Amino acid sequence: MSWTPDPGPFLSTHTSFGALDPEQLSRLVDQLPILLWSTDANLRVTCLRGGGLALMGQATTAKADLHVGDRLEDPVVAQQAVDAHTAALAGTATSYEIVYRGRTFSAQVEPLRDPDGRIIGVVGVGFDITTRRAAEVALRQSEERLQLVSLATNDALWDWDLVSGAVWWGKGFETVFWYESGELAAHYETWQSLIHPDDRQRAIAAVRAAIDGGSTSWSAEYRFRRRDGSYADVYDRGYVIHDPVTQKPMRMVGSMMDITHRKRAEEQLHASRAALRLLAARHQDVREDERTRIAREIHDSLGQALTALKLQLASAQAAAASTAPAPPLGARLRETAQMVDDLVKSVRRIATELRPPILDQLGLAAAVEWLAQDFARRTGIACTAKLHPIEGTISAEHATALFRIVQEALTNVSRHAAASAADIELGIDGDCVVLQINDDGRGITEKVASGPGSLGILGMRERAAALGGVLEVVPRAGGGTRVAAWFPRPRDPMRS
Ligand SMILES: Nc1ncnc2c1ncn2[C@@H]1O[C@H](COP(=O)(O)OP(=O)(O)O)[C@@H](O)[C@H]1O
Ligand SMILES: [Mg+2]
Repeated sequence: MSWTPDPGPFLSTHTSFGALDPEQLSRLVDQLPILLWSTDANLRVTCLRGGGLALMGQATTAKADLHVGDRLEDPVVAQQAVDAHTAALAGTATSYEIVYRGRTFSAQVEPLRDPDGRIIGVVGVGFDITTRRAAEVALRQSEERLQLVSLATNDALWDWDLVSGAVWWGKGFETVFWYESGELAAHYETWQSLIHPDDRQRAIAAVRAAIDGGSTSWSAEYRFRRRDGSYADVYDRGYVIHDPVTQKPMRMVGSMMDITHRKRAEEQLHASRAALRLLAARHQDVREDERTRIAREIHDSLGQALTALKLQLASAQAAAASTAPAPPLGARLRETAQMVDDLVKSVRRIATELRPPILDQLGLAAAVEWLAQDFARRTGIACTAKLHPIEGTISAEHATALFRIVQEALTNVSRHAAASAADIELGIDGDCVVLQINDDGRGITEKVASGPGSLGILGMRERAAALGGVLEVVPRAGGGTRVAAWFPRPRDPMRS
């Protein structure tokens, strides 16, 4: 299937192959995916053989008078071939690469000498390296793609050779877990050692079970050590790749996702839901208690007073109707008027406790002032209120919330603080309405302040949160407790 201008000097000068005669050698060469050729000193091809000719699709279309570069359509490529041959003629063996009809050949040419050592032409050999090149390009592209994916994702990618135990660590181990490039030893024991000791057994057992059990995928959540020694919560997923023939697990590739924030948020959400449930339950209880108290209050104070009034009126009626001598009516009416006075006071007291009318009538500042005085009078704890003008900037809702927060905070001072003084400050700071209640008592502990049992504090916090504000209860540096709340000022208080 090959074209042979004539046996040529190439084969005829190499007849000392022992048992392998030129004819056998030619047949062998024609079966190899290579090209072998020789030229004379004018670069006319004197011999062209090899299985590579078939690959070039040129085996039968050859001309008898062929020169180096003739068949290469691209003038640049043709020139390259001619230059290499010219160099060989000058005595220098040269390599070059040409692309011909979509195939890539790696060629080597060297001088062809006669028995006296004079250069009489060129001998060349070419290998078809098309598939190797394509594989190299594909590999490079896939490496590049992997690098890109590794850069683009926030996950840390890994590739674990299950046979050798070698592990490739993606860029994510630098960006997510702060390791330096090349710092992690390329072995799966590195992975094991970075798992939190409490999670290690579980994670390793799970990955082993997936591999040994023939699974194609595996996932687990565990804690993974960052470079600074802290631990991140991670979600790790891997895919097992099996040998297509033996079905043996060969490789595992995967990605590790940092879910620390999600985990924290979930925990907080969970805690805040639990707190809200408690609060709701407590609201129910408080309402029930309030109703009971008010019912008792009305029954005891108003009910009895009204009954007494009724008796008083009945006996006055009887006295008026009777001719018999009776106590002077004037005294009785005075007594009755006194009773009505008391009754009015009771009604006012009960109503004030429900909602101080002063809040609606005179506004927040006056109501807080009254609260402070009332508190001092009832408890003997000195209480001052520093109230900067904020009226007009807050809504009625804000006023109620602030008032109730002061009320609860003062109740806590009287119940828990063992304080000798408390002060209230209300004002504007930038875009915030700021409220503070300080006492000089024993001080609250951080644990109690944020603990689940602090429903009064939770209630204050919720009131603040409902209006977009925040509230904190903290121990003060010099002793005592501070309750502080910040509310964003409503945009248009008139409308809310
Ligand atoms: N001003 C304060 N000084 C000291 N401890 C306080 C103060 N306010 C609150 N505490 C502590 O915080 C706890 C929680 O308060 P709170 O949520 O209002 O619940 P309660 O008043 O029903 O006990 C109190 O039991 C008390 O131990
Ligand atoms: Mg309380």
